Amino acid sequence: MMKATHRATFGGQLGAVLVTAGSAVGLGNIWRFPYVAGENGGAAFLLIYVLSVLLIGVPIMLAEFAIGRHTHSNAVGAYRMLSGHWTALGYNSVIAPLLIMGFYLVVSGWTMEYMIHSLTGEFTRVQTVEEYAAIFSTFTQNPWRPAIYTVIFTLLTHGVIALGVQKGIERSSRIMMPLLMVILVVLAIHSILLPGGMQGVKFLFTPDFSKVTASTFLTALGQAFFSLSIGLGCLVTYASYFKDDTNITHTALQVVLIDTLVAVLAGVVIFPAVFSVGIEPTAGPSLVFVTLPAIFNTLPLSMVWSTIFFLLLVIAALTSTISLHEVLTAYIHEEWHLSRRISAWIVTAACSLLGVAASLSLGAWKWLQIGGKSLFDLLDFVTANVLLPAGGFFICIFAGWVLDRRFMPHELTNKGTIPLRLWPLLRLLLRWVCPALLLLIFLDNLGLI
Ligand code: TRP
Repeated sequence: MMKATHRATFGGQLGAVLVTAGSAVGLGNIWRFPYVAGENGGAAFLLIYVLSVLLIGVPIMLAEFAIGRHTHSNAVGAYRMLSGHWTALGYNSVIAPLLIMGFYLVVSGWTMEYMIHSLTGEFTRVQTVEEYAAIFSTFTQNPWRPAIYTVIFTLLTHGVIALGVQKGIERSSRIMMPLLMVILVVLAIHSILLPGGMQGVKFLFTPDFSKVTASTFLTALGQAFFSLSIGLGCLVTYASYFKDDTNITHTALQVVLIDTLVAVLAGVVIFPAVFSVGIEPTAGPSLVFVTLPAIFNTLPLSMVWSTIFFLLLVIAALTSTISLHEVLTAYIHEEWHLSRRISAWIVTAACSLLGVAASLSLGAWKWLQIGGKSLFDLLDFVTANVLLPAGGFFICIFAGWVLDRRFMPHELTNKGTIPLRLWPLLRLLLRWVCPALLLLIFLDNLGLI
């Protein structure tokens, strides 16, 4: 197998964990998880979510790690190297991140704008939830402000990518991930101590199974997928920078633990706050941009709390946009044989254009609709409901059925040098359980069952 020895690698196990956790921890954990859990009954959802992460998330993450680390190549090159017939899966792995960036950068831009507004104290004048709702819709529909923030966020991502794999991606994760954890813990403690806050904690940890339906399972699975960055090349690309002696099983378990912990802590930040002012926890996607700022405003030092909360979102989003950008940059650099610098600029230009178009499709360019959905919603829908589960499904088939049956154990044990007791279980999950469940999610998302 061809091994490109000149390629950069991450420093070691800790670097690998922090960088991958940076990709996984994102808006999915802090913005999406709390409202999805809120809509689906809280604790019961959390339980099903954790099961999905362990049964589906871990095996697929391991497959992607093994493929990336073995080939030390970008996503397209990795699949091509292992089997010429499966290059299409590699292309799915690089096209999907571009489409995700199209809407993810827009939401990331909103978090940045909200952080700046909080910092300048503009929000302190606002009083009711309705006013916040009005601010949110005026802002997202403004013809140029969110578009500019989208571009600024893309350039910020570019800045890190331009510094390179070690000095940019790894070093920024080593700084941002611990900072993120500290902010999260501080905010969580603050929330629990709010009057009535314990009610929110109870909501998150006392399961109410009467709210669980078949679709709760599929929603939890979909959320686990998005949150762990599975299914579209991020993990393959990052694992291609792992060292050959990195223990990928341990790395996966640690990343999964951090990602789940962050989602739970985000719930601990948000639900007590929601309950303390008597708002329903089912506010949906606007929970973070409308409900929370309104809640912060009722607290002493509101400016401080809301600034650090949105800083938390900015950091979480940035470490994820970096991973999405890198999938594309590595692909263009290695497959089109362009310099890394030029490759990064091509990606930045493409992401900015798509992001700006998606942002405008919510307001000034209302005509930019396909099939009744704005470009923004369409990008979200197609990636989360089609490309991600499809990518996951084919990765299972590829790793479980197509590759030589010694491939996975060989990689997971670092050529037999470290033990791996659970392989029979993992193999069963990868070959049967994961593909079957993914097929279900896929059909359910498209409204076919
Ligand atoms: N996991 C990130 C989040 O929770 C988003 C993300 C980054 C992602 N890379 C991905 C999602 C790859 C799916 C696939 O916000």
